[in-house]
Amino acid sequence: MNDLKNLIVSRDDAVATIQLNRPKAMNALNIEIMTELVDVLEELDQDVDIRAFVLTGNERAFAAGADIKEMADATAVEMLMRDQFARWDRIRKIKKPIIAAVSGFALGGGCELVMHADIIIASETAKFGQPEILLGVMPGAGGTQRLTRAVGKTLAMEMILTGRQITAEEALRAGLVNKVVPVEFYLEEAQRMAREIAAQPPIAVRLAKEAILRSFDTTIEMGLEFERKNFYLLFASEDMREGMKAFIDKRKAEWKGK
Ligand code: CAA
Repeated sequence: MNDLKNLIVSRDDAVATIQLNRPKAMNALNIEIMTELVDVLEELDQDVDIRAFVLTGNERAFAAGADIKEMADATAVEMLMRDQFARWDRIRKIKKPIIAAVSGFALGGGCELVMHADIIIASETAKFGQPEILLGVMPGAGGTQRLTRAVGKTLAMEMILTGRQITAEEALRAGLVNKVVPVEFYLEEAQRMAREIAAQPPIAVRLAKEAILRSFDTTIEMGLEFERKNFYLLFASEDMREGMKAFIDKRKAEWKGK
């Protein structure tokens, strides 16, 4: 983690903040930055002292998409062999909550990366879009699926087929983001929420995140079954005993993550 070229990683107690840091290229997501990002997320996902992530860019851009310069001359077979989206599947498997703090452009792969997060805090300057159509392609890192689930079919169609960007306010109305805050506070607010989540019992957080994500690719019947198993599993945790006992004793629970 010491020789990162494209990321700035900082830790504040149980919250790790990962900042995409290719400002000259509007944080375009080339293979190198994505490799670093996935490696760092996986490493910190294993670190018991970290309980939540904040993923951010800079004030001007969260990320302006996949690196167009890296793709412009590629053939279909080269794209297939690069298998770059395999890295994105690894982000999907991160167990701890990821909160995206978005200011400026979140376009193409940038918007898709935001949608890999579990919670999205936007600055009032944030702009979300899937402009791939303007380059003669289409979203490739989940945009057609995740945007449609987030904002519904008609707005997803409009954004993906015209390339129109939406404002933070529009994203809020459409259900894409959790909150819109003034640009001075978007990172602070994401970190505040990350700390709030990090203060909860970690096994319950992990199993609840897993169950919510499961709802995207299963039937209600199977999803309920999955939820129930995770619910029962929590009765094997010390934190569950402590949480309920603390409630009855009228005191604050002390979580052990066990
Ligand atoms: N890839 C590579 N370089 C990029 C980039 C990208 N996605 N986005 C911006 N840059 C580079 C620019 O080429 C420019 O570099 P130079 O200084 O060397 O010329 C630098 O970042 C600054 O960008 P601009 O001068 O364009 O800045 P601007 O303020 O005028 O415009 C912008 C900002 C609207 C974000 C504009 O840069 C833009 O439209 N970027 C491309 C957005 C896009 O099409 N994204 C989709 C990519 S495809 C994809 O993501 C596929 C997928 O599903 C995974």
